[in-house]
Amino acid sequence: MTTTSQSAEHHTPSGPARLLPGAPVAEAVLAETAAAAARLRDRGITPSLATILVGDDDASAGYIAIKQRQAAELGFASPHVHLPATVTQAELHQAIAQFNTDPAVHGILVQYPVPGHLDYDAALLTIDPDKDVDGMHPLNMGRLAVGLPGPLPCTPAGIEALLAYHEIPVAGREVVILGRGATLGRPLAMLLAQKRPTANAAVTVVHTGVPDWARYTRRADILVAAAGVPGIVRPEHVRPGAVVIGAGVRYEGRRLLPDVDEACAEVAGAITPRVGGVGPTTVAMLFRNAVRAAERASQ
Ligand SMILES: NC(=O)c1ccc[n+]([C@@H]2O[C@H](COP(=O)([O-])OP(=O)(O)OC[C@H]3O[C@@H](n4cnc5c(N)ncnc54)[C@H](OP(=O)(O)O)[C@@H]3O)[C@@H](O)[C@H]2O)c1
Repeated sequence: MTTTSQSAEHHTPSGPARLLPGAPVAEAVLAETAAAAARLRDRGITPSLATILVGDDDASAGYIAIKQRQAAELGFASPHVHLPATVTQAELHQAIAQFNTDPAVHGILVQYPVPGHLDYDAALLTIDPDKDVDGMHPLNMGRLAVGLPGPLPCTPAGIEALLAYHEIPVAGREVVILGRGATLGRPLAMLLAQKRPTANAAVTVVHTGVPDWARYTRRADILVAAAGVPGIVRPEHVRPGAVVIGAGVRYEGRRLLPDVDEACAEVAGAITPRVGGVGPTTVAMLFRNAVRAAERASQ
């Protein structure tokens, strides 16, 4: 256990950190996406993000409605299939296959969660990797690893965009990521180590296999919390003045419990807000992936 006096040795409270909201980042990404969509429409191509909803979960239906509204605002088509909760795995795959073979569809999203008898991950594997707007298909992870173009995993891409938008230098600096999960920590490490002006970082990834992970996080210029363990990142884990990105969250019902303890704002130089940080950028990336997929398909 870390005591209060030990904590005090590790940080000098320096006042509240600059906040790094995600909403303006998302707006900027969506504005670029709308412009790209308009250029495609001028060439007779309407970018299209197809959605599949299984069952009658109100929250999921609400998320689909938000995406459809967003699609309309951006000038996207948004074909939708609503399958009954009793659908079989084969029927779900069939719905995906129809969008896979439709040349007018550029991105496919299966709303999570699906009813318990269905295997969500197995369904995702059947999505054409070129239409995988989540960027999570193993082929797209491979493309990311070797630097080939393809849909990028949304939350990691959103974090890179957030840092760039808020003019936080990443190149040449040390980024420490707490968590090596497949959706967040691992792809983010690959992304931020790439040779690009908004990446090019020295990246360190820590996890449960590194019990003294605080040794690494305390030297980070940029610390990304990606563990999904509420409150795991405390002030004593943060170098004074460092940038802290809170991406990991756990939901208890509708309550959102972030990885980053709010007291970290007293030590960090800049920090994402507890709500409205990384989240909004993730959704914007779905549409950026779809419009880029449409651009690639039309080349
Ligand atoms: N904001 C967003 O839009 C967004 C999007 C995607 C994901 N997320 C969130 O990001 C988090 C991570 O997602 P994920 O899919 O990558 O999760 P995951 O697969 O569960 O990975 C969690 C990682 O955190 C590490 N970890 C957990 N407890 C730890 C501890 N006590 N000490 C050190 N390391 C610890 C784990 O280490 P081991 O590998 O050693 O087990 C693992 O690498 C989740 O909270 C998820 O909700 C947010």
